[in-house]
Amino acid sequence: MKSESKSESIVDLTTEFCGLRLPNPFLLASAPPTADAAMIKRALALGWGGAVTKIIPPDGMVITDVSPRLKALQKDNGAIFGLENIELISLKPLSLWLDEIREIKRCFPQNIIIASLMADVNEEQWQRMAIALQKAGADALELNFSCPHGMPEKGLGSAIGQDEELTGLITSWVKAVVSIPVIVKLSPNVTDIRRLALAAEKGGADGLAAINVEHFSMHLPGQLMFRAIRWEAICTSCLLLLCFVFL
Ligand SMILES: Cc1cc2nc3c(=O)[nH]c(=O)nc-3n(C[C@H](O)[C@H](O)[C@H](O)COP(=O)(O)O)c2cc1C
Repeated sequence: MKSESKSESIVDLTTEFCGLRLPNPFLLASAPPTADAAMIKRALALGWGGAVTKIIPPDGMVITDVSPRLKALQKDNGAIFGLENIELISLKPLSLWLDEIREIKRCFPQNIIIASLMADVNEEQWQRMAIALQKAGADALELNFSCPHGMPEKGLGSAIGQDEELTGLITSWVKAVVSIPVIVKLSPNVTDIRRLALAAEKGGADGLAAINVEHFSMHLPGQLMFRAIRWEAICTSCLLLLCFVFL
């Protein structure tokens, strides 16, 4: 079946990533625009090369979203200078996402769908999810070890990405049961992201995604937070440059 995507272009933008062939290097990150099959299909029809799904939870995990999902970052005088995302993970459980992934791949076989997943620190749960997502047609998996609000207080997301041992261990659990590429999404909320990147590599990761949401600034008062964010932006740029050069 021919892809419905508008991929015919006068310039060849095809890109290879972790052994996958993308029609172009434009990949939607895991976030509200990838909340369901209808939204992802619309984006692919408009020309995106692929998409990373919103983080998929195991069946039965209770997700309670906050409202509103963006926190205004304000200076001392009340002026808003930014918004911080405090959204949780997908409200759709694994069983619903399996059908959504099958449907997207049926309509867009040439485009890349990376399934983002999150589970408890439980080998059987990670492996069961990974196998099911691969079987549904996901082209790759993105292990979310980086979400600062979904839900580190329960030992998930960035709580995993702040622990080298768990990062390597869970990556190796997933790698042991799937043949598609496994990408680890790293957290910037660590002292030295290189140690976590190396732990993921040791666990067998095929690629790394940097980065998710920076967290600490929400708790600082106005002007200090503004300075901290400027500093974070400089550090993040330097860090990304280093990753690009060395990894
Ligand atoms: C509202 C919102 C929701 C997000 N949800 C997720 C998510 O569920 N999983 C995830 O891995 N990243 C999530 N992210 C992070 C994005 O995927 C991305 O890593 C982050 O926004 C940094 O990329 P950017 O600089 O292009 O925005 C979210 C970001 C926003 C703004």
